Amino acid sequence: MCGIVGYVGKKRAIDKLVLGLKTLEYRGYDSAGVAVMQDNHVIVVKDKGRINNLEAILDYDALNGNVGIAHTRWATHGIPSLKNAHPHEDQNKHFTVVHNGIIENYMELKDFLIKEGFKFESQTDTEVIPVLMEYYYQKDKDVVKAFKHTLDDLKGSYAILVITPLISNTILVAKKNSPLVIGEGSDGIYIASDIPAIIKYTKDFYFLSDGEKAIIDDKIRFYDEHFEEIKKQSKTINWEMDAIDKNGFKDYMLKEIYEQPASLKNTLNGIIVNNKPVQFVGFSLNKKYLESLKQIYIVACGTAMHAGLVGKYAMEKMLRIPVNVEVASEFRYRDPIVDKNTLCIFISQSGETADTIAALKLAKEKGAKTIAISNVFESSITREADHTIYTHAGPEIAVASTKAYISQVGIIVAFAIYLCDTLFGSNKDTNYLKEELLHLPDLMEEVIKNEDNYHELAKKMINVHDLFYIGRGCDYYIAMEGSLKLKEISYIHSEAYPAGELKHGPIALIDKGTFVLGIITDSKIADKTLSNLEEVKSRGANIVLITNQNIREEQVISIPDINPILSPILAIIPLQFIAYYVAKEKDLDVDKPRNLAKSVTVE
Ligand code: M6R
Repeated sequence: MCGIVGYVGKKRAIDKLVLGLKTLEYRGYDSAGVAVMQDNHVIVVKDKGRINNLEAILDYDALNGNVGIAHTRWATHGIPSLKNAHPHEDQNKHFTVVHNGIIENYMELKDFLIKEGFKFESQTDTEVIPVLMEYYYQKDKDVVKAFKHTLDDLKGSYAILVITPLISNTILVAKKNSPLVIGEGSDGIYIASDIPAIIKYTKDFYFLSDGEKAIIDDKIRFYDEHFEEIKKQSKTINWEMDAIDKNGFKDYMLKEIYEQPASLKNTLNGIIVNNKPVQFVGFSLNKKYLESLKQIYIVACGTAMHAGLVGKYAMEKMLRIPVNVEVASEFRYRDPIVDKNTLCIFISQSGETADTIAALKLAKEKGAKTIAISNVFESSITREADHTIYTHAGPEIAVASTKAYISQVGIIVAFAIYLCDTLFGSNKDTNYLKEELLHLPDLMEEVIKNEDNYHELAKKMINVHDLFYIGRGCDYYIAMEGSLKLKEISYIHSEAYPAGELKHGPIALIDKGTFVLGIITDSKIADKTLSNLEEVKSRGANIVLITNQNIREEQVISIPDINPILSPILAIIPLQFIAYYVAKEKDLDVDKPRNLAKSVTVE
């Protein structure tokens, strides 16, 4: 979704802004713009399309100011266009604004301002911010008061940066339900919607809470929701630069697939120790509380929800407690049956997914204990939840989630073992699972080594219109994730089905040559899925089998055998490679697929 960068310092702002925007490209966007304070007036340059388009029209020599703001827009209100691109200004050019989030009452405010004689240029909700600031400024000629009154009037979510020639060395900052970080570097102060945009300059970050503001010139002053000055402590984020570089890989997605064994090691580090009870930093759940649980909910979106399904499989097997997995956008609006005897787990790589955060707030209101599983330190979800478990997968840049999924699966299985150890004490089964988890990174390396085979297979799929992924039990959950990977980056339609369900309708779609990818990793149900594959084969389907069993098929991808609870971590790797290579063969941008954003901060 939209990205924000801001800079106040000793250096030329434009260089910092463009570099920051480029680092945020992965978030997904359709237009880009910058505003630089230049000799007491603001120069705004923006364009539709990629940042390269913007760069091509920037006159760097004319832009040597030291204060600036920048934005990449992912359209919500108004089509992607030059007029709708940020930054936005009021007609007197007193206030220049970039904004992430949605101003829900913008129509009401816009109507009011139009009646007051103000003019608008764009279809966006954002434009009401500078215009409203100008309205208040005209009343008592006080910039900070105008900022405060404007924020008081806004309903919705926002991360806002404002520059104004009225106090030309300053950026005004506000945050509510939209991510924003401030970093203090050696040559200036940086503001961004995401840490990667500015990690090059500093490792010390301030995280604003919802309702907080900052006024930044050569120092940072923080304010609470009532605009009272407050002190804040910075936090150190030890990400290395190469975590956000491609490091010689063609794409981030490929790099992140390769990083998966290391990510999983990091995830499990200190949590899973052979023959020791599982432990999490900063919290524990006692046996009495766990015994009071009637059910568990796992709520998330997209890939994170698929990881949640593996959690359900593991928890129900080990604990015999009902576990419901639900898409956050459904959970939040359907009055789910949740109370103090429900444990609710929310999984989100970014920690900023609007639906997941809203679902968490709802579960809290209903009295449930909430646990967030997130990859991003201090992300919004981590502030809302009663407890947080970080996945420590390292920054994931490609829109298609790979290493974050592996880490989510790793952590949710570790959590299932934790619940089991706490309720029943460590036993030989959970200890064996711990051993297997620790051995997984080595097995993943083995699977990754067969990259060329996956590539060859992908070449056969590039002209396909429809594909099916089928499996039973946990294999069905792997099918869902494999199918999502293919759809989102190759734009080929694919469906995941429980293998036994095909004959209840979808089998009508099977025709000569239709690709069906079958996943079989559980010996107990292998024969059943195999029969379903035979059914589609006899109707002309082209079968590809991903399995750890000894099964003869024309096109087989063999993966190491492991407990079915952990098999998603191995079986997903060939499917990630297949999606990647289909998209590459089609010459598509795998890291930034069309219409998608890395973190989905709108509902
Ligand atoms: O940041 P989150 O984990 O909350 O994101 C949830 C989904 O938007 C995300 O997993 C999405 O489905 C990915 N693009 C899948 O690759």
